[in-house]
Parts: sequence; structure tokens; C-alpha cells
Amino acid sequence: MMEKTDIGKEGDAMNYQANSARYESMSYRRSGKSGVLLPAISLGLWKNFGGEVPFEQSRKMVLRAFDLGITHFDLANNYGPPYGSAEETFGHILKKDLLPYRDELLVSTKAGYDMWPGPYGNWGSKKYLIASLDQSLKRMGLDYVDIFYSHRPDPHTPLEETMGALDYAVRSGKALYAGISNYRHEEAKEAISILKRLGTPCLIHQPRYSMIDRWIEDKLLDLLNEEGVGSIAFSPLGRGRLTNKYVQKLEAEESQSSDFRVLSGLSNFAGNRGQTLSQLALSWVLREGGVTSAIIGASHISQIEENVQALSQPPLTTEELTELDSILSHSHIG
Ligand SMILES: NC(=O)c1ccc[n+]([C@@H]2O[C@H](COP(=O)([O-])OP(=O)(O)OC[C@H]3O[C@@H](n4cnc5c(N)ncnc54)[C@H](OP(=O)(O)O)[C@@H]3O)[C@@H](O)[C@H]2O)c1
Repeated sequence: MMEKTDIGKEGDAMNYQANSARYESMSYRRSGKSGVLLPAISLGLWKNFGGEVPFEQSRKMVLRAFDLGITHFDLANNYGPPYGSAEETFGHILKKDLLPYRDELLVSTKAGYDMWPGPYGNWGSKKYLIASLDQSLKRMGLDYVDIFYSHRPDPHTPLEETMGALDYAVRSGKALYAGISNYRHEEAKEAISILKRLGTPCLIHQPRYSMIDRWIEDKLLDLLNEEGVGSIAFSPLGRGRLTNKYVQKLEAEESQSSDFRVLSGLSNFAGNRGQTLSQLALSWVLREGGVTSAIIGASHISQIEENVQALSQPPLTTEELTELDSILSHSHIG
């Protein structure tokens, strides 16, 4: 394990110096057929980084992540609560500590879900996406984000308009790359083709994916591989269920549910190979044929450290993957 982030005592204004060994324990993987390398593990700021969390706590987690080689931070307009506050927190961390490292960071944001009242604060219109991106840039104090996503498809807006907004964001310099999230196979196929036609290739797709939620294996992953589009899984720990902490909670409740049987089976499997359940879940989504990167959430520095350690553990063998399939075949957790 590397030395701890040097940010001084709680609340003091000591200058942050990034760990000089920060690129030693992380692996970087190419996003599809692009020039962009993503850290195998990225950090998401959906929860635990909003206005209700003490700033120093969020700051320490982001800086520890960067010190462990996590160069990619995933945000969205409405992460908080309240909406917008995770971007504000991240903006403060940038200003205080990370702006000297801006060119070592890959920052993403999104628009597509509820953000402000009225007809122009939700879904997929160009009106909403571009106004939202401008607001996100202001909150984070950035001139551009690295990736701007359509957060979800909008059944009532022509896909040409939503993809046109992403193309515009890139051409106007507000974003370097375009991405899509939560698009199912057919929607993704069309979106990728429109973006290609517009001359702004889709860099990445961000779907939900974990051992207990494998929907992307039915066509979407193949499509992304064929099209040279990267993939970044959100909720790779099943929103905290694929962790020893959750299994212990079920144990304490003396749960007899089938969820408990599957999760404790996975936890024992992980223990037998010297891993925690969260580490096994990450080894699994990042296995050969899996996704480019996994975006974890975290509420404590120790969780980030534990999760990053998965990258120095042995990859899953074919036999182990078969055994896991058999344990997971009893799962209805999803
Ligand atoms: N595009 C989308 O629509 C979308 C949707 C959801 C998420 N996302 C992105 O994906 C990111 C991650 O999502 P997620 O929070 O659902 O991911 P997750 O990694 O599946 O779950 C994260 C939670 O697991 C627990 N955890 C993490 N590591 C642990 C460990 N080692 N031991 C015990 N518990 C551990 C923590 O729960 P506690 O807080 O209880 O400690 C943490 O908040 C988000 O921040 C966001 O950037 C995108």
C-alpha cells in the first residue's frame, strides 16, 4: 500500500502534493478504439459527495483516490443532494488541490434526469443538455469536461437532436468526448451510428453492470466491442450489496433469504481466494471480456483502498468463472 495522502490535519489549508507513486498500482485500459486510457477503477460522486457531507471528508476521498492512480471522476448535474452540490464539492477540490493536475484528470458529467423545474430541465433536448453543461462547468470551475453524457435516452426527443447536442458540446469545446448512459442495445446502436455520421464518435457507454445484474451481456457488450466503443460499469458492487459489510448485516439479521444464500456463497468464494466480496465483484466485472472500467462509489477512504487492491490480486480463471456462474444461477437479486 502506498503512503497516505499528504493533506494535513482535518480542516487545515496545507497544500496538497500528489503521491509520486500514484501511477504504480493502477492499470489503465483503452476506451474502445479511442486514444483515451481509463483507470480500471474510477470513482463516482453520485452519493457521499453532496452538500450534506463535510467537505473535508469528500476532499480526502477524492485525493486518496487520485493518489492511488484513479484519474477518472464521474459526475452528473444532479448528484448531491442537493442537486448540483457534488459538482460544487468537486469544483472546490479542484480549486484547492487538483487544478495543477487538471491534465492528469478525466472528468465526466451528464444530463438527462430531473434537474430544474419546467419543460427544459429534464430528458434529452438540446435546450436542456447545453444549458445543463454550461451550469456544470460553472459549478466545477472548469472550461471543459472530458466526457459529456446523455444520461438516458428520451423517448420523446429525436435521437438526432440529443446526439446533435453532444456533437455541439464537443465542437464548441465544452467537452472533449461524447458518451451515452443507460441506452439499451437498439438505442445504443442508433446513437453510435448518428454520432459517427456527425463526426463525433461515441467514446463510451455507461451501463449498470455487476455480478447480480448482467443485462449488458445480452447484445450490448458485443455491440460496443464491434463498434470500438468503451464501456464503464456503474454500480459494480450492486450499490453496496456485493460487499462483506452487507453480508454481515444479513447475517446479523439471521436472514434465510435466497439473496443471503447467494451473497454468502460469493463471500465464501472470495474468502477462499484471499479476497473480500467487493474485490471479487471488481475482479469479475474487469475480467477479460468484461468492461473497460468500473465506477465505484465509496463512503470511506478504506473502501477505496480495499477496492483498488483488487487490481493486484490474481485474475479469475475459466474454472472459477464457471463456478461463479453456478452460484449466480440461483440469484434473483438484480
Ligand atoms: N449513469 C447512471 O445512471 C448511474 C447510476 C448510478 C451510479 N452511477 C455512477 O456510478 C457510481 C457508483 O455507483 P454506486 O454507488 O451504485 O456503486 P457501487 O460501487 O456498486 O456501490 C457503492 C457503495 O458500496 C459500498 N462500498 C463500496 N466499497 C465498499 C467496500 N470495500 N466495503 C463495503 N462497502 C463498500 C458503499 O456503501 P456505503 O455508502 O453504504 O458505505 C458505497 O457507497 C456513482 O457514483 C455514479 O458516478 C451512474
